[in-house]
Amino acid sequence: MRHIAILLPALMLAACGTSEAPLRPLTQEQSAALRPADARLAELYDNSCRACHTVKDSLAPLTGDRTLWDARWAQGEEALLAAVLQGKQAMPAGGQCFTCTPDDYRALIRFMAGRNK
Ligand code: HEC
Repeated sequence: MRHIAILLPALMLAACGTSEAPLRPLTQEQSAALRPADARLAELYDNSCRACHTVKDSLAPLTGDRTLWDARWAQGEEALLAAVLQGKQAMPAGGQCFTCTPDDYRALIRFMAGRNK
């Protein structure tokens, strides 16, 4: 009987592994530790988006925190791109990236919204 008590939690864990992990908010530190895998994108990110999108007080959704991004992501990629290009509330037009192309913005948005996998 004793090994059933040991087996049950293991089975429950295995079952969880098949579905998506529940979304959890990130801390600022966890958000700040994320960088785009591509070196050129990472540099663009470090020099612009990162300054606000890893700081809660900026009111920007934290990079990688899908509890903050999923509702925004639901607007669609083009709407998010338009918001960055035009600026939105405390975000200046272009998100302070002066050399980003539209494709750079799309890749940065995907990364920040946690859609890279
Ligand atoms: C000066 C601070 C600042 C910088 C720099 C910045 N953002 Fe933002 N961003 C914000 C804030 C604040 C919001 C939340 C705006 C709102 O919905 O009130 C935001 C929201 C967004 C959104 C969601 C827009 C929506 O419609 O929901 C996207 C996408 C975004 N930022 C992408 C970027 C990208 C990409 C960069 C870098 C190229 C960047 N941001 C740089 C402050 C910034």
